[in-house]
Amino acid sequence: MQGKHIVLGITGSIAAYKAAVLCRLLKTAGAEVKVVMTPAAKAFITPLTMATLSKNPIAVEFYNPENGDWHSHISLGEWADCLLIAPATANTIAKMATGIADNLLLTTYLSARNRVAIAPAMDCDMFAHTATQHNLDILRSRGVGIIEATEGELASGLHGKGRMAEPESIVESVAALLSEKKKSLQGRRFVVTAGATTEAIDPVRFISNRSTGKMGYALASELAERGAEVTLVSGRTALPAPQGVRRVDVLSAEEMYEAAAAAFGNADGAVMCAAVADYTPETVSPTKIKKGDGDMVIRLKRTRDIAAELGKIKGGRILVGFALESDNEERNAQAKLESKNFDFIVLNSLRDKGACFGTDTNKVTVIDKNSYEELPLMSKHEVAARIIDRIEQKLPNR
Ligand code: C5P
Repeated sequence: MQGKHIVLGITGSIAAYKAAVLCRLLKTAGAEVKVVMTPAAKAFITPLTMATLSKNPIAVEFYNPENGDWHSHISLGEWADCLLIAPATANTIAKMATGIADNLLLTTYLSARNRVAIAPAMDCDMFAHTATQHNLDILRSRGVGIIEATEGELASGLHGKGRMAEPESIVESVAALLSEKKKSLQGRRFVVTAGATTEAIDPVRFISNRSTGKMGYALASELAERGAEVTLVSGRTALPAPQGVRRVDVLSAEEMYEAAAAAFGNADGAVMCAAVADYTPETVSPTKIKKGDGDMVIRLKRTRDIAAELGKIKGGRILVGFALESDNEERNAQAKLESKNFDFIVLNSLRDKGACFGTDTNKVTVIDKNSYEELPLMSKHEVAARIIDRIEQKLPNR
């Protein structure tokens, strides 16, 4: 919660008195809090109380009626890491579900860029009503976190479900929500190739390379955390499969091609991160080759370029490639961007420290037709997140 921006929205429910404690708990947890109140909320708790606790002025109207000072109706939504509406009345929930924007809290909701959570509070019959439950389902399906109301004595004198959750448990729910990744790739499918291929010489020996698969596995993991269905076509690596990812183990470049092409069929995109052998022995000895006195020559033939093959058939899908270069880095990467029909290419230079095989860090430059972005040295997971942010920007809307 440390340093997180929370917009606390308060609506007109008797549970608004608990918003004071909630605000204090959020501040104690290290969050920066700005409060927006609906006009009805002011009858239940004063703006002065909330301004004092949040240490920020309260926003209620679109403008200050005394001096005409304009409160931007969207800036709070842009500022917030989380918009938390507690208490949330049946009326506000219904307006959120239909997109009504007749007060500053609702325009903040419609412009919120990050997480939104609500803690419903109302009489038990209003809570149980099909209309309210239907509205909650709509909000849930849009990814709004619903902090469940609890059962107990209500202000109406009735006993039932509709009490706002206690401030302590609201703070816990918000902290959990903030640590969760936004499921921005829900319903999307991706293929990731990773690790080193191995090209058999005989049943015992093979040709391979130093790739450990860390970068590709970080990409697969980040895609899955954002809700995508991921097929990870993996060559040789010692890494465990990331959670929620379908891993297909392969050995040779040919096997990797078959698995990647099959999964690409119904995918939204592919990230080609594997270190694929460019050459493979022309023939594979069925028995272990005996050593002789003299030298030995193994004749190699070209493997299929998986990325280039997918590039030919990609249509509207996203295709991202990697280039590991030791010289003429930028020119070589540009050439691969074009020849393999990548949307963008991630360049690794062997000359950069901390950006080599097996390290947990990487230093890359992301290149597309129109731009060139050099990223600083960062963890492979952070690099993965930056690459996937870029994929999200390029994904066509559905
Ligand atoms: O041509 P080069 O091997 O340098 O290209 C690197 C990019 O192409 C990487 O994204 C790599 O995963 C991909 N590639 C491939 N199949 C090959 C060779 C490279 O998918 N046979």
